[in-house]
Amino acid sequence: MCGIIGAVAERDVVPILIEGLKRLEYRGYDSAGLAVIDQQSLKSKKVSGKVAKLEQEIKDTLLSAPTGIAHTRWATHGKANYENAHPQISKELIALVHNGIVENYSKLRLQLEQWGYEFNSKTDTEVIVHLIHYHFNQSNDLLTAVRTSLQSIEGTYAIAVINPEVPGHLIAARHGSPLVIGIGIGEHFIASDIAALIPVTQKFIFLEDGDIVDLQRNSFKITNSGNPVKRAIHISQLQANAVERGQYRHYMYKEIFEQPQAIKNTIENRIHNSSILETIFGPSTHKLLKNINSVQIIACGTSYHAGLTGRYWIEKFAKIPCTVEIASEFRYRNPLPNSQTLVVTLSQSGETADTLAALNEAKQLGFGPSLAICNVPESAIVRMSDMVLMTHAGPEIGVASTKAFTTQLLSLLMLAVVLGKHNNMDHKIEHRIVDAINILPAQIENVLKLNSIIEQLAGDFADKQHALFLGRGIHYPIAMEGALKLKEISYIHAEAYPAGELKHGPLALVDSKMPVIAVAPNNILQEKLKSNLQEVQARGGQLYIFANHRAIMQELDYVKVIELGEVDDIISPIIYSIPLQLLAYYVALIKGTDVDKPRNLAKSVTVE
Ligand code: AGP
Repeated sequence: MCGIIGAVAERDVVPILIEGLKRLEYRGYDSAGLAVIDQQSLKSKKVSGKVAKLEQEIKDTLLSAPTGIAHTRWATHGKANYENAHPQISKELIALVHNGIVENYSKLRLQLEQWGYEFNSKTDTEVIVHLIHYHFNQSNDLLTAVRTSLQSIEGTYAIAVINPEVPGHLIAARHGSPLVIGIGIGEHFIASDIAALIPVTQKFIFLEDGDIVDLQRNSFKITNSGNPVKRAIHISQLQANAVERGQYRHYMYKEIFEQPQAIKNTIENRIHNSSILETIFGPSTHKLLKNINSVQIIACGTSYHAGLTGRYWIEKFAKIPCTVEIASEFRYRNPLPNSQTLVVTLSQSGETADTLAALNEAKQLGFGPSLAICNVPESAIVRMSDMVLMTHAGPEIGVASTKAFTTQLLSLLMLAVVLGKHNNMDHKIEHRIVDAINILPAQIENVLKLNSIIEQLAGDFADKQHALFLGRGIHYPIAMEGALKLKEISYIHAEAYPAGELKHGPLALVDSKMPVIAVAPNNILQEKLKSNLQEVQARGGQLYIFANHRAIMQELDYVKVIELGEVDDIISPIIYSIPLQLLAYYVALIKGTDVDKPRNLAKSVTVE
């Protein structure tokens, strides 16, 4: 999604803005631009396309300046073209970048047109910049003009504004879209994501909804509803090289192979004497979980698939009912609240607009305490929740989530145990789960050795238009996640079904051109699954079976078995997700897609 960076300094900020934009690229975008104040005049550059193109164009103009704002745009209103790229500028005076959506922009546009403003873009953003221009003409004060303008805006925003008549000032504001101040020495920054600012500072202030900041080189003032407010300073542990690709060809590949370490980090300090510590969710956990009699998981995309998997563990080990819902549905369904229901949000980014809104809705309705399982410590979802479990996967840059998913799964398994202990779970079961968790990193290392086998297999998929993924029980959501990965980065249409459902419809799709991928570990449902696979085989479907042992089915030209070896039943959903990630990666590689930044997608979906 869109990214913002801005800076007020003594030195030239153009290289800082460009580096920041590059660090925001992973979020997904289709145009980029910047505006600076150079000796009291406003200069801007925009491109439709990549930051590298913008960088090249800037090099040619030798642009340099001490104050500026920059943006990567992911199109919502209006095409991904030059006119719609940000900054949007009003009358060569006000330049603005914006993340979010202005819901009442049609009405505001009409009003502004009546006041004589001409619109050059199809964006909703352009109304904000003209409004600020209008109010600046009235007040001759940029901060007042921004504040007054925002009173008319309905929707969500994070904005940064500059005006050459007030050089050395940058005004920024947030409502529903993240924005962070970076504190430097004799310089200040603003960004939508701390990743953009890590090369210049590790000191951050997270703005809250309604905050407006007037940023200058040596000072900043935050106000909310016109009153001065103080916000805490956070020191980030994120290292600049943590978001670098190193020798790897793609972030996604790097992140797949980081999973053993990511899992070790998720386990670290969370288990003591074969027991999962309750305090990992925060100091008040015992009190908050005491009366819990059900769990509601809310998430989107891959995180939703983690939730669906977690439900099996929670119901099996904690023996309390668990429901899982897509956040964008939950928020509009008017669900019936229960104050004894634990609300669990799952989110890699912690900024997903639908998940945030659903959590808010759950709180308003009177659901019980909330727990965030998240990968970004300073994110909005973390800050909004009563309890938190950080997944510690490290920054995930590839749009297709991999290590964040497997660490979410592990976190949910730990949650199931902690809830189970509140419900008289037998210690022996806990010890058995802890043993399985402890061997997880080694088992992942093992399964990653299938890398070259899967690379070869990927060739079979390159010319395919469709694929079916099958699983049963707890491995059905793993099949769903496998299908999502393939769809996201290789653009092959992929669907997942519980294998038993095949004959109720999807079997009609099966012919010799349809690859069918089965997640078939050795468990009590394996025999049932085998019968379902026979149904595919009988219709000439091409079978790719991921199983513990080759013996699951006779290998034929159209039946390939990928052997994962002995896998502990408890952790097998985590292990079986990994070859499916590799399969999607290699198919995308053959198809030559943009693996880390697949078309139309964004890493952090901060709009509804
Ligand atoms: C995963 O590969 C996707 N990019 C997407 O489905 C993602 O999981 C979803 O947008 C939710 O994001 P979150 O975990 O940051 O909330």
